[in-house]
Amino acid sequence: MTTLGDQHRTSTFKPRRRPLSPSRRALFERLSVSLCLPVDGPRFDPVGEFGGAAPLVLDIGIGSGHALTTQAAAEPGIDVIGADVHTPGIASTLARIESMGLANVRLVHGDALRFADRLAPGSLDGIRIYFPDPWPKARHRNRRMVSAANVDLFYRLLAPGGTLHLATDIDDYADMVLSLCGGHADLDGGVVDRPAERPVTRYERKGLDAGRVVTDLIYRRRAR
Ligand SMILES: C[S@@+](CC[C@H](N)C(=O)[O-])C[C@H]1O[C@@H](n2cnc3c(N)ncnc32)[C@H](O)[C@@H]1O
Repeated sequence: MTTLGDQHRTSTFKPRRRPLSPSRRALFERLSVSLCLPVDGPRFDPVGEFGGAAPLVLDIGIGSGHALTTQAAAEPGIDVIGADVHTPGIASTLARIESMGLANVRLVHGDALRFADRLAPGSLDGIRIYFPDPWPKARHRNRRMVSAANVDLFYRLLAPGGTLHLATDIDDYADMVLSLCGGHADLDGGVVDRPAERPVTRYERKGLDAGRVVTDLIYRRRAR
């Protein structure tokens, strides 16, 4: 059977192995049971998982989870799945979900594009990609999260009217998004002013401190 994620097997991340401290490991094991969704498995059932039919957002590459948890706390009516392959970042995010008492967040510890196989077409109201890995070398461009195949995957996962929101501080990444999303027949959008609801992320802060300029882009799936 062909699945939505089948075209996405070029890895978009570098494996980083940093072991957790014993206390972080214990926290990870305790909280991941209820808060982490398996990467592989049957079709994801948002109502069964969150207990209601709220808008659903997938946040890809959450890093340490500061922005994810800040935004989720400000938007309790939106259910969010945050994905990252980086174990210490997932552990930090689990700790923040618990300390902030967030009921509207679940995490995926693994490849978001593989988890996408579990999502029904048209089931997402939003996809957030805040500061994807830049992969600056020309020979690594095919590892970028935004590619023609992935844009088509994101489009198919979005409900009509759903949005893809990407932020980057790499000019040529923004140009690539403009070209790939702008060239998609069923997506409308482009560069926007920084939305007030998007928190400054950890990675963004470093770029701002280094004088880099951030571009936000939002594309909406056309309703038809
Ligand atoms: C540059 S960091 C940005 C993190 C965070 N959004 C921020 O702005 O601070 C990109 C993150 O994307 C994650 N990532 C890359 N490819 C991924 C994938 N296929 N699935 C899940 N996470 C991924 C990396 O592990 C990394 O933590």
